[in-house]
Amino acid sequence: MLKLAIDFGTSATKIFRLGSGVVLSEATCVTVGRDTGRVHAFGNDAKKLLGKTADTEVVFPVYEGEIVDERLAGALLEYFLGKLERSFSVEALFCVPCGYSEENRAKYLRAARMAGISRVSFVETPYLAALGQNVPISESNPVFSIDIGAGKTSLAAFSLDGIIAGLSMNVGGNNMDVHIIDHIAQLYNLKIGSLTAEKLKNTVGSLFRDDHQSTVVQGRDVTTGKPRSVAVYSEDIYAPISGYMDTILEYAELILRKLPEEVSATMCRSGVYLSGGVSMMPGLGDYVAERLQMEAHVAAKPHMAVVLGGGRVLGNPALLRKIRME
Ligand SMILES: Nc1ncnc2c1ncn2[C@@H]1O[C@H](COP(=O)(O)OP(=O)(O)OP(=O)(O)O)[C@@H](O)[C@H]1O
Ligand SMILES: [Mg+2]
Repeated sequence: MLKLAIDFGTSATKIFRLGSGVVLSEATCVTVGRDTGRVHAFGNDAKKLLGKTADTEVVFPVYEGEIVDERLAGALLEYFLGKLERSFSVEALFCVPCGYSEENRAKYLRAARMAGISRVSFVETPYLAALGQNVPISESNPVFSIDIGAGKTSLAAFSLDGIIAGLSMNVGGNNMDVHIIDHIAQLYNLKIGSLTAEKLKNTVGSLFRDDHQSTVVQGRDVTTGKPRSVAVYSEDIYAPISGYMDTILEYAELILRKLPEEVSATMCRSGVYLSGGVSMMPGLGDYVAERLQMEAHVAAKPHMAVVLGGGRVLGNPALLRKIRME
């Protein structure tokens, strides 16, 4: 039996194989012929075509953490699994957002079947994010975790006995990218593409107020329609990034306020554990710590924390029985 932990994320799919470690990390997208509906490319090969071809469109079958196109999701999973050596039947643990509905899990099950996966279990992101960071978690030791991905943010206070208070929200790096596009259009009268906006966020984006990094971006002049480039600085995109962080932290404060006193005291001592690709942003840990008035720990590999946690659970069936969604 081939045992896999699969983080089928909005922007990237990560796969951990028991006995090997992380064996795949690729864009969660496919290119499809506009007229034919036929799939031309999968994963990273497909993402390279974003915004570049006229007769194909790039489709992300997982949107804000949910499968929105089961056929393409199944085909993409089948493609990813085809890249792994597999002469055995496949058992998969899927990482899903906090409080994931039965209806949404059914979509995963159908896509998994299409890809030839015979046994499936589901574990919510907060558990895996914490386990992937080697956070000590037990029945009596509650933990507070925030995972900020591309389309989904999962926040929860939980112990091995269950989630004490938690939620997932449709906010993440993608919202920041869209807002950065609007912001650059206003500031510089320049329309940039979504890949450019993402790169801009990931290279000069910062939550340190005084960061002054810059990069040159190319786009199209809104008035003349002609190609033009400008230098963009960290402070130019601070507002769109911090705006979404503030929304996330409002919910984090709500959760903290709902906790019983003893749990709340433990949280204040142990701090908050941050993961998800957006947590790679410079200054994010300090920003969160100041706002929540508690220590903030950023994962060593923020975008991999969840799938690494999945890997740990794969190797521990008793733990899997305890935390999987029924
Ligand atoms: N250095 C960086 N600074 C800020 N954001 C970054 C950085 N590197 C990557 N990101 C962003 O992290 C996000 C991807 O993170 P991650 O892989 O955790 O998401 P995902 O699992 O695919 O999505 P989700 O969990 O929302 O379904 C993207 O929005 C990406 O642009
Ligand atoms: Mg994710």
